[in-house]
Amino acid sequence: MTDLDLSGKVALLTGASGGIGRALGGRLIAAGVKTAFAYSAHPDAAEQLAAEAQDAGVAAVALAGDLADPAVPERLLREAADALGGPVDILIANAGHALQQDYTDLDLEAWDRTLAINLRAPFLLAQQALPGMAERGFGRVLFMSSAAAFTGGIVGADYAASKAGLHGLTHFLAPRVASRGVTVNALAPTLIADTAMLPRNADPRALPVGRFGRPEEVADMALAVLRNGYLTNQVLSLDGGAHPR
Ligand SMILES: NC(=O)c1ccc[n+]([C@@H]2O[C@H](COP(=O)([O-])OP(=O)(O)OC[C@H]3O[C@@H](n4cnc5c(N)ncnc54)[C@H](OP(=O)(O)O)[C@@H]3O)[C@@H](O)[C@H]2O)c1
Repeated sequence: MTDLDLSGKVALLTGASGGIGRALGGRLIAAGVKTAFAYSAHPDAAEQLAAEAQDAGVAAVALAGDLADPAVPERLLREAADALGGPVDILIANAGHALQQDYTDLDLEAWDRTLAINLRAPFLLAQQALPGMAERGFGRVLFMSSAAAFTGGIVGADYAASKAGLHGLTHFLAPRVASRGVTVNALAPTLIADTAMLPRNADPRALPVGRFGRPEEVADMALAVLRNGYLTNQVLSLDGGAHPR
């Protein structure tokens, strides 16, 4: 058995109120991970996850915060540690913002907001969480990217660029903490059903598997990444065969 037992670890999951976040939250609860479920505009789904965890005897909390605000990452990490009895061992930067807009219509404000939520916030979270993880000899950072980082995708120039930035971040950070029991990886899914982010013009027939992905399939892969101490500095695609690399 090489899979790491994650029970009792402390996690911060951003975007817990979304489609993929909900599935990820369920897997973390099942694994016994004490989790702070972070949300922005939709408290219900995150609070429901926290209640499900508590019913299962796993400590949990729902935390509000707009990740466009650069003060929020530090506050979420602090509040998660306070509520769950210890610093964050597992950071899943899953929250994402997508505005479907042609590049010719994209104004400065929209560009800055996407980059702030999708790239700056994950960096600030990792910047603050990683030194403590390295000191304690264990940590996991997982960024939620997108196949759009490779292909350009169909959402927007700001979205594709922000997700590609996460790959650079992964490759910069991972080697700096690799010898300290800390892994840094990114997952790059595409076209996941039951999420608010599934682009309205997406066509499952364009995918080799002929269907959209399921949030549970993303969550299963995320848990496999979190359990594996030898996997680091990688961007893993989960795209129904759309983009072989
Ligand atoms: N669905 C897909 O096809 C797909 C494909 C590739 C990658 N992804 C990535 O997967 C991740 C999860 O998205 P999803 O598919 O689950 O979509 P979703 O259902 O729209 O969820 C998005 C999540 O991000 C949170 N969020 C958005 N803006 C935020 C902000 N300013 N501050 C804090 N949280 C914010 C939302 O919180 P509130 O709702 O509470 O505001 C929600 O929990 C994203 O990073 C997305 O880019 C999704």
